[in-house]
Amino acid sequence: MFSLPYMYLIAILVTCRADRNFPEHLKLGAATSSYQIEGGWNADGKGESTWDRFVHENSGDIKSGATGDVAADSYHQWKEDVRIAANMGLQFYRFSINWPRILPTGFTNKINQAGVKYYSDLIDALLAEGIEPVVTMYHWEMPVKIRDLGGWTNPLIVDWFGDYARVIFSQYADRVKTWITINEAISICDYAFTKGHFAPKIKEPEFAPFLCNKHVLLAHATAYRIYEREFKPKYNARISLANYELWIKPATENDTALAELGRQHATGRYSYPIFSKQGGWPPSIEKLMLQYSLGQGYRYSRLPPFTKDEIEFVKGTADFYGMNHYTTSMIRPAKPGDAPGIWDVTGSPELNATLVFPPNSRFGVSPILPVYPEGIREQLSWIKQEYGDIDIMITENGYSTNDYELNDVDRTQYFKEYLEQVLLSIKVDNVSVIGYTAWSLIDNFEWLDGYTTKFGIHEVDFSHPNRTRTPRTSAHYLACVIRARSLDV
Ligand code: NOJ
Repeated sequence: MFSLPYMYLIAILVTCRADRNFPEHLKLGAATSSYQIEGGWNADGKGESTWDRFVHENSGDIKSGATGDVAADSYHQWKEDVRIAANMGLQFYRFSINWPRILPTGFTNKINQAGVKYYSDLIDALLAEGIEPVVTMYHWEMPVKIRDLGGWTNPLIVDWFGDYARVIFSQYADRVKTWITINEAISICDYAFTKGHFAPKIKEPEFAPFLCNKHVLLAHATAYRIYEREFKPKYNARISLANYELWIKPATENDTALAELGRQHATGRYSYPIFSKQGGWPPSIEKLMLQYSLGQGYRYSRLPPFTKDEIEFVKGTADFYGMNHYTTSMIRPAKPGDAPGIWDVTGSPELNATLVFPPNSRFGVSPILPVYPEGIREQLSWIKQEYGDIDIMITENGYSTNDYELNDVDRTQYFKEYLEQVLLSIKVDNVSVIGYTAWSLIDNFEWLDGYTTKFGIHEVDFSHPNRTRTPRTSAHYLACVIRARSLDV
């Protein structure tokens, strides 16, 4: 017979182990995006996108003048992508549709059948392997004609995006059960227009980011409403958008209010109008922007107001919360001589704050992403506290290096530590996390870093004509986790 203390110990061990098991509803997958992997930039009738134009201008913004003209050649090697995803046992694969591959000019007057077929074949092949397709509709490629008409600063884009969405839904709604309308609006609005060295290469920090904020939300909501009316009764998929979620902590105890303002600025602007009960802009940001704009001599806020109808139209247009999370920063008031912020959005003039790294951070080789696993748990709790008990899908989480190492011990450790925190969030904080997505399934074109920064759990040999894929240790690790449905592997 076992003694009482011994049985107690067994009970603890069993409980601890059980705590590291994955609940049934937490699905595990990996992601990519079209421009970053596809290549085939002008193949088979595809139109030109802002990223095609931007990289071909070769303005020195992108490391080594790299382009996504061939990238990982997924336009031709997509069967390989499906094969490696299947080998890992992924439950879903998040990829994106390249707008001008479907609508070469951006408008519905011409539909490129080769493009339609490309994604259709990919979806079929995934389903045949039991992998759910999670489809992003806009991961930053805008048809150049739409850019020339003002892109995200033109209110008409709301309808143009809706038209594009309807084409996509008509083609794939029978097979796609999870949709993401827009990926990381903060990157295309704030980052792109503030910095000006990101497609569409327009620097206009005063108004463009805020016009873009409003139009992105209306475009998302338009796509959602089209689906709700025309497709949901038959196909019943879930739709959301994927927000960039930098977790912001106060640098000192005096910075608590500033940290909350920073979160509303970086995250709330894109989620409060959709997920809050009231709708509209986060009140603290509306006030901040008005005061700041008046102080600059404007007669009104540079953040365009929503009408009452628009507030209602946008509110509630998501069936889950999509969150791209990589890292955590600390915030404090700006001081003279501060270097420009790491992510200048939160270092933007109206906030007058500076982001600093958490003390004792570990870094990937790309030094902007400190490893701070607790941050993901804190961020998840914040979302729950802000918006109630909504399902949350972690639509991206990953770690960058700048070498080709197959034995990517650091990345593997990153996934382990972040997943531990996700499990704590589910089991201890009762947050409803329904999906976890590793970024990225394969090495790819990392925007301004070109091919110097690697996020892939599979290495891609960019010197090989077929861009061969090889699993890294992190892919083996995640495959084990998926098979065991537990972190005890
Ligand atoms: C988020 C973006 O969605 C993705 O395109 C990018 O590669 C990763 N962050 C890493 O920077």
